Amino acid sequence: MSCSGVDSQTKVCAVIGRPVAHSLSPLLHNTAFFYYGLNWVYLAFEVENLKGAIEGVRGFGVKGLNVTIPYKTDVLAYLDGLDMLAEKIGAVNTIVNHSGHLKGYNTDAQGFLKVLSKEGIDPRGEGFIILGAGGAARAISFALAQSGARLSVLNRTPERALELSRKLEEEFGRPVPALELNIDNLKFALDNAAVIVNTTSRGMSPDVEGTPVPGELLRPGLTVLDIVYSPLKTRLLREAEAAGAKVVGGLDMLVYQAGLSFELWTGLKAPLEVMMAQGRNFLEPKKLERKNSLALTGFMGAGKSSVARLVSSMLGKELRSTDGLVEEAAQKPILRIFSEDGEAYFRELEMRAVKEVLEGDNLVIDCGGGVVLNQLNILNLKKKAHIFYLKAGLDTCLKRAEREVRPLLGHDPGEVFRLFSLREPLYEEAADVVIETSGLSPEEVARKVAKEYESLS
Ligand code: S3P
Repeated sequence: MSCSGVDSQTKVCAVIGRPVAHSLSPLLHNTAFFYYGLNWVYLAFEVENLKGAIEGVRGFGVKGLNVTIPYKTDVLAYLDGLDMLAEKIGAVNTIVNHSGHLKGYNTDAQGFLKVLSKEGIDPRGEGFIILGAGGAARAISFALAQSGARLSVLNRTPERALELSRKLEEEFGRPVPALELNIDNLKFALDNAAVIVNTTSRGMSPDVEGTPVPGELLRPGLTVLDIVYSPLKTRLLREAEAAGAKVVGGLDMLVYQAGLSFELWTGLKAPLEVMMAQGRNFLEPKKLERKNSLALTGFMGAGKSSVARLVSSMLGKELRSTDGLVEEAAQKPILRIFSEDGEAYFRELEMRAVKEVLEGDNLVIDCGGGVVLNQLNILNLKKKAHIFYLKAGLDTCLKRAEREVRPLLGHDPGEVFRLFSLREPLYEEAADVVIETSGLSPEEVARKVAKEYESLS
């Protein structure tokens, strides 16, 4: 892979729809590709000509697609095969290109079922109220009906609710009441149901004061799921929570359906926790609280430890080192952890060390050079600290690193150069502030860091 991460070997996935500019899928999938170091990229295409787009997928050998509004149903006509659930639902949100054979899946439905299982909700025999009768309602209600749930569908336009309920009744041979979405019908439906699923767009930004259910109908014992994920907590969820109900936001379903698509394309287990954290970080309004810690990152030998010590005394902040915590946890030096337990174990301890460090406050954090390899580390650090990248050329780093043996600075200069080239863009990307350190003494670098920090806070 090149420094930009894209080269002649890069595999492509994408979401198609109209509009797609708001889509979180590129962020979630590129996060997952990056997590595994895959040379894959995920793009968003605003498509006018669906047939042409699918021909392009075949022509360019695009590995996989997500499909969103308005094409989830229309796209079926251009595929070579369908997964059984997608066929039943009559909608596809994921396409896998098996050497030119395009197969359609519906991970919206399975994603929803995964949310239920994570929340410990068993749909069998349980009463669900589906609000809305569009594409998402269709996928969710088919998944639920197939799992033995009892359903009623409430929609502003009752004819559309009726259309969906007829399809469900035909397929599953059980009655599915279809009603207009109003307060009386909600009261009636709530007599027989303990779970509400909002699939309408009420409450979605910018309509943040909108809600499909009047607050006075919400009560303890109910579970309310909202597929709206922006804002993370809709008015419906806020009021349900205040009334003592259990609430589940839309980001979970979004991430689960994305995770299932990722697994279909790559055969790898989706890094759901990292995808979720990335999504939440993007959606949550930035906290205004001041961050009073700083984290120093950079390649081995960049001077992090000496500079961190100086900055900590200049700013009167406590000094913590992730490597120090790792050694404490393992009860042995880093060199021995690498040789006896392996790098993967070291990275696990390092991730725990980052979490542990961040329990503290008002810190200077001396990060091991590899902390930036794990996006969860970066997301966690960013919550509480400004990240400073101490930048230096490889020669400078190697010279400065001479004083101490490091497991990853072996004798093969080509390998070290490769590591350095891979790491540099990671440091740049994670950094809030980049400090050029070549030719400067630790004192001079520390003064630069302290000055930049003061101007930030
Ligand atoms: C590493 C850097 C080291 C230490 C370990 C792995 C790395 O810390 O965590 O040897 O992967 O870059 P320093 O950067 O403080 O040397």
